[in-house]
Amino acid sequence: MTQLEQLRAAMGQAGVDALWVSDPANVRAVSGFSSGKDGKVLVTPEGAVLYTDGRYTVQAGEESRIEQHIARPPETYQDAAERVRGARVGFEAEHLTVAGLEALREHWGEADLVPTRGLVERLRLLKTPEEVEAIREAQALADRVFAGVRPMIRAGVRELDVALELETGLRRAGAEVGFNVIVASGPRGAMPHGVASERVIEEGDLVTVDFGARVRGYHSDMTRTVAVGRPSDEMRRVYGAVLEAEEAAVAAVKPGVRAADLDALARGILERHGLAEAFAHSLGHGVGLNIHEGPGLRAASEDVLAPGMVITVEPGAYLPGVGGVRIEDLVLVTQDGYEVLSHTPREALPG
Ligand code: GLY
Ligand code: MN
Ligand code: MN
Repeated sequence: MTQLEQLRAAMGQAGVDALWVSDPANVRAVSGFSSGKDGKVLVTPEGAVLYTDGRYTVQAGEESRIEQHIARPPETYQDAAERVRGARVGFEAEHLTVAGLEALREHWGEADLVPTRGLVERLRLLKTPEEVEAIREAQALADRVFAGVRPMIRAGVRELDVALELETGLRRAGAEVGFNVIVASGPRGAMPHGVASERVIEEGDLVTVDFGARVRGYHSDMTRTVAVGRPSDEMRRVYGAVLEAEEAAVAAVKPGVRAADLDALARGILERHGLAEAFAHSLGHGVGLNIHEGPGLRAASEDVLAPGMVITVEPGAYLPGVGGVRIEDLVLVTQDGYEVLSHTPREALPG
């Protein structure tokens, strides 16, 4: 089945004849058009149309796998109205703004508008070989850039300068910077999303570095925590516990495993080390056109791992006022297990 056929099958199960796709990553996934934030897609039983405006005529022609209609609202809605007359039309309840819904109501008086959730996202859970290739390339590039920058993570250097080197390295290699680079040293390591600051790295710090590249729209995501000099005994113990949890969770990745059970496995190990409270986020997430997408590796998740999913495994422990550790790998679920896509070694702390 083609991707559009799969989407129509999902639409059928959701009880809609047509679907108005407004989320930028979903627009890209369905059409191939890379400026999804300036596009919308209408999927009907007969076809699929990308709506975007005159700034993108050439780009849409080059990239889109589906019919293109170049127009601005309200003409966009008027054209679509012809195609949805009398239909039950799904919209993306998690993405369409209230104003966007009002516009659909105004222009499509005869259509029955139905909220839907996750129809395109569910298709995006399983990556095609081309998508895996883009993610693999992004991660390989990030690994190379990290190897070049690693020697400058030492006492006397600002976190911001480490981040800048990583960003320039990615850009020079032809990738985009996937998300704000996290460089959290010493006590700042207690902030799971501590983006790089002006703090100067000190002897004895652990430094958490979390960054990713974007290649052809697809992300990589990896975290390493590295030691500058000899960290305290307490932080060495925390590092050992997080490493144990991370390695155990990665080793347990295979099709059929419940994402919630993987989260529980890592959480159980950290709990045995007295770090249950310190592990303040979920174990991981899917990666693709968005840095964070399904499946969710968390207690409440109903997702089950399947071949073709690309996930992160990223336990961490954060001690306010003291410091933190996170180790994150990017993992492809294969037919019989897993392949770790991130190749930067997880470092052993100096003795
Ligand atoms: N940088 C956020 C994450 O690793 O999920
Ligand atoms: Mn990350
Ligand atoms: Mn992540």
